[in-house]
Amino acid sequence: MEDLSPRPGDLEPIETASIDELRALQTERLRWSVAHAYANVPHYRAAWDAVGVHPGDVRELADLAKLPFTAKADLRDNYPFGMFAVPREQVVRVHASSGTTGKPTVVGYTRDDIETWATVVARSIRASGGRAGHVLHNAYGYGLFTGGLGAHYGAEKLGCTVVPVSGGMTERQVQLIADFRPDLIMVTPSYMLSIVNEMERQGIDPRATSLKVGIFGAEPWTNDMRREMEERLDMHAVDIYGLSEVMGPGVANECVETKDGLHVWEDHFYPEVVDPVTGEVLPDGEEGELVFTSLTKQAMPVIRYRTRDLTRLLPGSARTMRRMEKITGRTDDMIILRGVNLFPTQIEELILGSPQLTSLSPHFQCVLSRSGHLDEMTVRVERREAAEAVTAQEAGVELRRLVKASIGVTVAVDVVDPAQVERSVGKMRRIVDERAAR
Ligand code: DLL
Repeated sequence: MEDLSPRPGDLEPIETASIDELRALQTERLRWSVAHAYANVPHYRAAWDAVGVHPGDVRELADLAKLPFTAKADLRDNYPFGMFAVPREQVVRVHASSGTTGKPTVVGYTRDDIETWATVVARSIRASGGRAGHVLHNAYGYGLFTGGLGAHYGAEKLGCTVVPVSGGMTERQVQLIADFRPDLIMVTPSYMLSIVNEMERQGIDPRATSLKVGIFGAEPWTNDMRREMEERLDMHAVDIYGLSEVMGPGVANECVETKDGLHVWEDHFYPEVVDPVTGEVLPDGEEGELVFTSLTKQAMPVIRYRTRDLTRLLPGSARTMRRMEKITGRTDDMIILRGVNLFPTQIEELILGSPQLTSLSPHFQCVLSRSGHLDEMTVRVERREAAEAVTAQEAGVELRRLVKASIGVTVAVDVVDPAQVERSVGKMRRIVDERAAR
């Protein structure tokens, strides 16, 4: 794989500023953002008045803890435009996330917000090893989802030649990769797997393509999946994180030279990690729920937005800004199986990380069912194309044993033939809940 570390002069000054400079900038911006939200969004005014906190009480970064959290429900309650802090005419774009129930959550951007977003996405692509002049194949979905357009504007800003493919039509994706010879691909990791399978089906060697870097995000994926991708495609696999409510993709990104967690672009998005039950702010290094406060957003400031994503904050490495560890899962993705908490990422780690399980593929789903009063889980996993059926069945028995030994819960494992597990073209559905509604 090519060395794509940044060269002197590539980075924005703030990426390597001192911690003191960064904190001073954040403090100044935080005061602005809090005052802006209070003055212009009735929801914030009411919520803060109710607990007797005024923007003037937020002088330092630590004062943020005095303010109440914002949740997805607050956005829904103010559907569609009630959380906007500027007149609707100044909003040049909206996006929305579908959500599983009820109304979608709507987010809005001013022209300056779109510019900020493009800046942080350009920074993310550069951190991933992208450069002006690279061809970038963008397979994130275009539309109300922030992935496609978010990546697109950032890639253009960096100076890439963007191929705006969007998700789906996998055969055509493969053809375009062969014909346009992109250096970079932006796509969900689960859809990348579908694309790799399609390459193999067409007799194309995935290691021989022009791709140098995959920038994967929008869903959790593990370091074992990174190894799998880097091995199968002979390219770097780098993690990009974001969420619509805070901006979209480009809230945090890994650096290709270290791949040691995602640097949070803290000059625009201030992170906290809190205890998901008590809401207490946890010190850096401790795992909990990630909470973000936007520092520069005009159209829709978010103050202490609870992401439901679980991670911990670590000190900066390749950049000054703090890192967040790869997301282990979401509080609402956690499966509680007979009292034991588990995440699909743990199953992914076992399948891809255990030398005895090389006949199993990363295509799997966790199927929840109920027998009598007991919840049961079946890991439905495909055998790899090249693997013998008997070997894969034995690996299934071994996976069951490993789950019991490492997570402490008994599950069933159903090893199925290739292409039997639902394929993703965007975010993968890892959990299939077949239990009757309670
Ligand atoms: O998924 C934005 C995005 C698009 C990020 C493309 C990266 C690439 P939403 O649809 O609002 O926005 O979903 C946000 O997706 O709270 C996480 O649970 C999950 N997520 C996003 N990136 C990652 C990641 C986009 N790198 C929700 N690792 C977030 C793990 C991720 N989970």
